[in-house]
Amino acid sequence: MNASRTRRKAEPAPPTTLFLFGAHGDLVKRLLMPALYNLMRDGLLGDGLHIVGVDHNAISDVDFAKKLEDFSRAEVAAKSGKKAEEALDSALWGRLAKNISYVQGDFLDEATYVALGEKIAASGTGNAVFYLATAPRFFSEVVRRLGAAGLLVDSPEAFRRVVVEKPFGSDLATAEALNGCLLKVMSEKQIYRIDHYLGKETVQNILVSRFSNGLFEAFWNNHYIDHVQITAAETVGVETRGSFYEHTGALRDMVPNHLFQLLAMVAMEPPAAFGADAVRGEKAKVVGAIRPWSVEEARANSVRGQYCAGELGGKALPGYREENNVAADSNTETYVALKVMIDNWRWVGVPFYLRTGKRMSVRNTEIAICFKPAPYAQFRDTEVERLQPTYLKIQIQPNEGMWFDLLAKRPGPALAMTNVELGFAYRDFFEMQPSTGYETLIYDCLTGDQTLFQRADNIENGWRAVQPFLDAWRVDTQVQGYKAGENGPQAADELLARDGRVWHSLG
Ligand code: BG6
Repeated sequence: MNASRTRRKAEPAPPTTLFLFGAHGDLVKRLLMPALYNLMRDGLLGDGLHIVGVDHNAISDVDFAKKLEDFSRAEVAAKSGKKAEEALDSALWGRLAKNISYVQGDFLDEATYVALGEKIAASGTGNAVFYLATAPRFFSEVVRRLGAAGLLVDSPEAFRRVVVEKPFGSDLATAEALNGCLLKVMSEKQIYRIDHYLGKETVQNILVSRFSNGLFEAFWNNHYIDHVQITAAETVGVETRGSFYEHTGALRDMVPNHLFQLLAMVAMEPPAAFGADAVRGEKAKVVGAIRPWSVEEARANSVRGQYCAGELGGKALPGYREENNVAADSNTETYVALKVMIDNWRWVGVPFYLRTGKRMSVRNTEIAICFKPAPYAQFRDTEVERLQPTYLKIQIQPNEGMWFDLLAKRPGPALAMTNVELGFAYRDFFEMQPSTGYETLIYDCLTGDQTLFQRADNIENGWRAVQPFLDAWRVDTQVQGYKAGENGPQAADELLARDGRVWHSLG
């Protein structure tokens, strides 16, 4: 039976062997293990969870478990503000750690997969999840070998699932090839393509707010909405990821996945039910409705930026080309701004402007929905010359919440207006436990709920919309500089100014 988000109360996940490929990598240490610990804290994992690290380095089971404990302690301490020695509850960690083990093996060696089969046989449950937290070049290799070893045979008695991390392909052709490879050895219902943005409460809340408050539907269309801006601004640079980032860049790293997921949440039609198929179907449909620009149009509707030396909070910061493992003449973009159009009944004529960048002035992921002005200028003969645009701001992080802009009369004898806010901040209503964002996604995978995972068509539609930008930039490789600590190149402002619009202030 498929689980679904319509479940009333979350039960502990069924006994499962969870294989973590790339067990020594950052993702496992910094996010997956702390997330598993948080799930244990919340009573969502039973004692039947076996965690098996898989990687090529040699390490004993005990040392591997200890290493995971040390990292989890440091991460939970950093997120909760507790001292490291108090960050983990030892009884809870003990319940998780008693079933941690390790398989040393090469991902390309068949013997590794024989050892995995033996682990499943010894675990007392046939259920298994294979989590590919590896470099992307291993995705299809590992999956092919899992299939060949007979480890992907799914049955009502024992599920077999594979979690695939991003990046899922590097363009349309590679994403299609990877999907083809996965679907050769298992069915779509066994594949969990992860996008950690969908694990964020505020992202899930977009659907709940839109579809549980009748009010929203009344103005959620091109009659009332002028345009939509989706921003993911980061203050961090490329950190230690220079060699990955050099051939990835901001477009591939953020747009077809994270930003398009936000776009889909805002723009999709109401699903007929809140089940995985209905929700994923509507998301894939709306991403598929993004107008395919010609290469010329893509060039005109995009801006590529790269940060140069600058400063933030009084601290001098190097330019991208001075970062480790980055070429001194690199043209990789660390910032991108795009205009896309959605060709459907609801959104025709409403531009969606997307921007994301590293080393910007603030960390802020938000969706700003800009409303059309009131239709009739009854304030013409007053001191109000022009009505300011008003927005619904959905803040994904930090300071999660939603704010409506309203125009209000400034007190006094003259008719003067100002923008005021009507808002809801998560922290005022809910006590939020520290989390990594991976908790929901891991739990959903263990319980068989695919709602928050991307289906093959969604991924391919995303790449199809991004491909013209990639094609345009292959010819025109120039990047526009912006100073670290500023909000992208001037050309990004011009992209909106051309349409008589401005970027929503990042605060
Ligand atoms: C990752 C990207 O997927 O998302 C990173 O590879 C980026 O480059 C990160 O920094 C942003 O995630 P978040 O949750 O901090 O917005």
